[in-house]
Amino acid sequence: MDRRIKIFDTTLRDGEQAPGCSMNLSEKIEIARQLELLGVDVIEAGFAIASPGDFESVQTIAKTLKNCTVASLARCTYKDIETAYNAVKEAQSPRIHTFLATSPIHMKYKLKMSPDEVLERIDDCVRYAKDFCSDVEFSAEDATRSEKEFLAKAIHTAIKAGATVVNIPDTTGYTTPFEMYELIHYLMENVPGIENVDVSLHCHNDLGMAVSNSIAGIKAGATQVECTINGLGERAGNAALEEIVMAIKTRKDSLGCYTNINTKQINRTSKLVYNIIGQSVPLNKPIVGQNAFSHESGIHQHGVLAEKSTYEIMNPEDVGITQSKLVLGKHSGRHAVEDRLKQMGYNLTQEELNEYFERFKKLCDKKKYITDRDLEALIYNKVRTDETIQLEYFDVHTNNQFSTCFIRLKKEGIVYEEVSIGDGPINAAYNAIDKITGKICDSLENYSIHSVSDGKDALGEVTVKLRMKDHVVTGRGLSTDIIESSILAYLNGVNKLYDLK
Ligand code: KIV
Ligand code: ZN
Repeated sequence: MDRRIKIFDTTLRDGEQAPGCSMNLSEKIEIARQLELLGVDVIEAGFAIASPGDFESVQTIAKTLKNCTVASLARCTYKDIETAYNAVKEAQSPRIHTFLATSPIHMKYKLKMSPDEVLERIDDCVRYAKDFCSDVEFSAEDATRSEKEFLAKAIHTAIKAGATVVNIPDTTGYTTPFEMYELIHYLMENVPGIENVDVSLHCHNDLGMAVSNSIAGIKAGATQVECTINGLGERAGNAALEEIVMAIKTRKDSLGCYTNINTKQINRTSKLVYNIIGQSVPLNKPIVGQNAFSHESGIHQHGVLAEKSTYEIMNPEDVGITQSKLVLGKHSGRHAVEDRLKQMGYNLTQEELNEYFERFKKLCDKKKYITDRDLEALIYNKVRTDETIQLEYFDVHTNNQFSTCFIRLKKEGIVYEEVSIGDGPINAAYNAIDKITGKICDSLENYSIHSVSDGKDALGEVTVKLRMKDHVVTGRGLSTDIIESSILAYLNGVNKLYDLK
């Protein structure tokens, strides 16, 4: 009989730890809700002790979600464990995830503890966590560089102390699929009681093998896999959820497993995460990249036209990518738009749809044909009526020497106007905004623009990264006018900086 593999998503913890991937509370909640819709079994919502902000986001997510387990990470200390529990205790299904390293290198240089002390600490901390919460996961950090006999002892200790899940992380992305298979097989054979708990994998991608290593561990008997959307994570990232899930689904014949993931939500989830962290989807990204299902070479096109399965091993529809024959434009009604969005996996409430349809109509005044990519871009670029600073009007003049921008902003009901010059129109506009906002932003770390679809009337989407001391936020703006999208992106970032103050 096929085995179910539980999907543990750590986008909001290990993913968010990656440089440039930090998110604010409302972004984390939006992602958490989408992960629940995707059908993940466990969401690791954060590392509650890391900061009051992290605690608040774990706690809010724990209170918000109804259909999945919510976990918080904790080192093997009483304080961490108590804080993790306090953050998740109101979840329908809370989990404390505690970890301690078991490799000689980590024990000697980082922990400065002997192997016996490590075993003692595991026993003590898992028991302590168990007093608070029935669901306790123990991770043996750097498991794949640990001595396997000692790792088996550590895992056995955690199980005896009450762990319900034992995790075998490849913390440094060092192992290979063959080694991972052997390691999990060894643990399954040599750790008493392991058959009564979930055995989890957590692979990093330093050598590009995170997904393969996870699949190898599953084949050897693991029952849970830890992963992130789009493979976000420390350094080269973690195993990508969408790749693992689709590998399990597509190669059911070889792996004999399944997950509870609603794969039709994969594309939507991936886009949401890319949008929030301000990155565009690499064209050749497996499963969700724009080229993942397109066939360029004549031979391939010919084959696919004759029979799809010649070159397609998955249906794009299965991951929520739909190709519409219907063209939307200014004559399209609400129902047509709503239907199309539903086919694309977006079920908006009536209120959201009203607001969306207004923006759709405005876009139709500027653009003749509305593509799926335009519809999607409108989803992720909502009108932000709740932001502190709003754009009222701008006027830009430019020549090949310099540019001038006049800008009118509204901040807490008061209208401010400024004029500034700059090397180019965007520089002039940003200088004018800085004059009004008192330069809350220390530096513009990154600016990128891309065209959402093809054609001269395409929407331009701008993403900026703004720094204020140690904080870096992402701002996004969308318009058929790229100066306007640049201004909107900057203001979106500046508003986030205000929220942090
Ligand atoms: O990579 C790792 O070892 C981790 C653990 C804390 C699970 O993220
Ligand atoms: Zn990790």
